[in-house]
Amino acid sequence: MHIEIQRKAEIPLSKQIYLSIVDHIRSGLLQEGVQLPSVRELSKQLEVSLVTVVKAYTKLEQENFVTSIQGKGTFVKANRKEIVDRQKEVHSYNWQLSVQDYLPRSQFAQFHHAPEKIHLSSSMIDPGLLPNRYLEREIYQMLSENPRILSQYGEIQGDEQLRNAMYEYVKEFEAPTTPENILVTSGSQQGIDLVARTFVGPGDVVVMEAPTYPGAIDVFRGRGATILTVPVDQDGMRVDILQNLCDKYKPKVIYTIPTFHNPTGAVMTFKRRKQILNLAQSIQSIIIEDDPWSEIYFDKKPPASIKSMDQYGHVVYVKGLSKTLAPGCRIGILAASGSIFKRLCAAKANTDLGSPLLTQKSILPFIKSKKMIDHTKKLRTALKIRRDLVLELLSKHAPFEVSWIIPKGGLNVWISLPSWIDTNHLLLEAKKQQLTFLPGSACYPVELENHHLRLSYSYMSEQLLHEGVTTLCSIFHSVISSKKQHDNSPFF
Ligand SMILES: Cc1ncc(COP(=O)(O)O)c(C=O)c1O
Repeated sequence: MHIEIQRKAEIPLSKQIYLSIVDHIRSGLLQEGVQLPSVRELSKQLEVSLVTVVKAYTKLEQENFVTSIQGKGTFVKANRKEIVDRQKEVHSYNWQLSVQDYLPRSQFAQFHHAPEKIHLSSSMIDPGLLPNRYLEREIYQMLSENPRILSQYGEIQGDEQLRNAMYEYVKEFEAPTTPENILVTSGSQQGIDLVARTFVGPGDVVVMEAPTYPGAIDVFRGRGATILTVPVDQDGMRVDILQNLCDKYKPKVIYTIPTFHNPTGAVMTFKRRKQILNLAQSIQSIIIEDDPWSEIYFDKKPPASIKSMDQYGHVVYVKGLSKTLAPGCRIGILAASGSIFKRLCAAKANTDLGSPLLTQKSILPFIKSKKMIDHTKKLRTALKIRRDLVLELLSKHAPFEVSWIIPKGGLNVWISLPSWIDTNHLLLEAKKQQLTFLPGSACYPVELENHHLRLSYSYMSEQLLHEGVTTLCSIFHSVISSKKQHDNSPFF
């Protein structure tokens, strides 16, 4: 068993050991009945105190992951198979009952319509940074020149000119495909949904990162899928754990956000991208590569997409324009090939007979004229300033118990609090102070972790970001200090 600990991290060593063993158990790397190293052995191996290991093992036992037998040792209790079987039991009874589980999650997507003043929950771009006036003029001109657009159906696959323009656009960040292999969708959300409704049925295994984008969890839940999760570290999805799950359960679909992962911001290394593709090929799975914002990088260009290496058509590449251009137009694309692509086009026809021609034609000149490339350059600069502001404010005002991952692109910062804090409760307090954020639990498909939150720096002006982050930090301080007063011995 390989356990990596970071001595400089703010998470206590006992918790790091606990979390690492939980990951091993959940992923099936540690099977039911396997004996853990003795406390003495592990403390020697990791060069930590005996007390640290005892704390981790006690917590594992309290949480029912292991059982200790006196005189014999500590043994793994629950494993992935049980989770899969348990979920299958639900499905064999009535899988649609599980659908109600995901309804509360959808409320978070609508936070920006809520009355609070500062929305740090919205993973959207500040409308002031989007070319609304330009699009308005284009739409007006287009309609006055060609009002018949309103009286026509577009092609099911999407407007040919837009597909050509999108092909040129995605080529810029190394996601090669051909215009013939592009399907225009109603946002990337529809791309994910089309794959799910075409290839996933009740009880089928889908692998997702944990945490992940809540809207995708809802889609697979809605299909009655059995969702298994793989943790994410700074290099993206943990391939060692994925490998084990693939060997055992042969998932139908692997859903990943490799570049500026939502919510953690992690960037999957090139090596892992290749490994995941090889895995999917070896078990004939489909990878959904969700790429909402790889063009918003602050440092260096991220590695090439998984799709760019996909010789045999295992990857469905999904890209929306909501996070860079015009969420109101609801335009995205998916790129796939072979029979997978044909089936997705058929599903699109069944769903809506093609995306609205009006919105497709509205954004066409912007993308075609390369204005889009200049616009994304400006977005990078503007969002980097906001990200830096948020990081600076967190460093200045957040209590030392709070940690975060520095995003190198994208729209979000992932913040972790001490494990006894439930950010769902924190949100109630924040709302009283006119503030929203996304509680981390919304991002976990299976076992929830409640002590994280996602803060988006892209939607609010710098002034409101300043006010919002300072207020949030003062909420952190008051929750942590009141807990310290009431309880002097938190385990973690
Ligand atoms: C990772 C990810 N995928 C997909 C979507 C859906 O976006 P849209 O359908 O607007 O393109 C979002 C929206 O927040 C997202 O964050």
